[in-house]
Amino acid sequence: MYKTIIEPFKIKMVEPIAVTNEEQRIEFLEAAHYNPFQLDADSVMIDFLTDSGTSAMSAEQWSGIMRGDEAYAGSRSWQRMEEVVKKLTGFEFVLPTHQGRAAERIIYSALGGEGKTFISNTHFDTTRANIEFTGSEAIDIPIPEGTQPQSLHPFKGNMDVTKLRSIIEERGGESIGAVILTVTNNSGGGQPVSMSNAKDIRSICDEFDILFLLDCCRVAENAYFIREREDGYSELSYKQIAEQMFRLTDGAVMSAKKDGLVNMGGFLALKNKELAVECTNVLIITEGFSTYGGLSGRDMEAIAIGLEEVFDEKYLEYRMKSTKYLGDGLEAMGVPLLLPVGGHAVYIDAARFYPQIPAHEYPGQALACQLYLKGGIRAVEIGSVMFGKYDEQGELIPSPMELVRLAIPRRVYTQSHIEYVLEVFRDLKNEKNEISGYKITEEPRFLRHFTAHFEPLKGRV
Ligand code: F0G
Repeated sequence: MYKTIIEPFKIKMVEPIAVTNEEQRIEFLEAAHYNPFQLDADSVMIDFLTDSGTSAMSAEQWSGIMRGDEAYAGSRSWQRMEEVVKKLTGFEFVLPTHQGRAAERIIYSALGGEGKTFISNTHFDTTRANIEFTGSEAIDIPIPEGTQPQSLHPFKGNMDVTKLRSIIEERGGESIGAVILTVTNNSGGGQPVSMSNAKDIRSICDEFDILFLLDCCRVAENAYFIREREDGYSELSYKQIAEQMFRLTDGAVMSAKKDGLVNMGGFLALKNKELAVECTNVLIITEGFSTYGGLSGRDMEAIAIGLEEVFDEKYLEYRMKSTKYLGDGLEAMGVPLLLPVGGHAVYIDAARFYPQIPAHEYPGQALACQLYLKGGIRAVEIGSVMFGKYDEQGELIPSPMELVRLAIPRRVYTQSHIEYVLEVFRDLKNEKNEISGYKITEEPRFLRHFTAHFEPLKGRV
């Protein structure tokens, strides 16, 4: 076996990267109020902000786009997408949406409201926001290992089923809006969830008659880990594993911008007809008719193809090994990581990288800014900027972890881009003791990480 991971594709079309220098980037960052979300993409060299909607589509998908049927009702492209989603999920009712959070808004506004509780291994930020927006409470219960960056548990994305039971017993089954299993657990570090965990959740939900939903936007990547790490799955295809997981649940919410290998799209798929009818009404009022949601025909064609391609064995193996390659390289140079390396991203433990910066001075934000300044690399803070709350005295209640995520777009960067990122980290490591924190100077009420303004505490970077 050769060590080099070759990308299992050739490149037919290229997109130039504008190469910038540190002086220029100081200006760009200041203009962006030290928030990488506010940077122009053209001023970024390696964009690891997200793996969402940033995939390169295949020749097959681009051909599909030309075949897209733009009929308002009952288009051929919708029928293809519906068929692929039905086969994969096993659910009878499929609602197309323009992206994951549109599906979330529809389902959680139907299930939520004052007095309801939603329980998840970890709610993604848009999931939490959509739930809290209805007046409901969203509770995260990852297993204890899930919040310890050093624990090598093979399924750190699992939900704590003991806590699940006790919360349900305490609050009563009828007050639980749904149990949501996010695979892989994005906000918990892209960590996988085992099939046995999903089975345990199913039986608890059965016992208390609670709806069990899968946030399945990285379900193919999760299936890879199940085959690698869980007994009894080595003979199954990745797709068969994913199919099994869907069949343990009552419905799924998907942002197809991840494992759908497209730039836009999503869906809600449900088993229950009554709930599907209620959601379809909202879909038609707010997104579009039930056979396109917020999507054009060509988008739906590309999703139908992407959802097949993502289960290609060679693709998934390359994808997961190349993420691990970046993680292994960083680990070898002593950069503290959330371990084991997850599927779509490498998460750096910024609290340990910059031990001199306390949580309320946002070590993750400091690292995200340094990455941009040194290397033009854009990453996202997943720590107290994203998940911090204030107590009644206005003091920050920090997030359990201070992470920075390097999310890898699918089929976009080559190994030499990754080598460059590793080189930049060598520099960051050498200068790490000189770096100080940030303060927030402006922030909105919800999802503050997107638009908040920051200032370096020492006045300049
Ligand atoms: N659920 C999970 C687990 C996600 O990671 C995301 C998006 C969503 C739901 C919402 O989907 O963006 O299509 O509306 N995650 C992106 C990210 C934004 O960068 O991780 P969306």
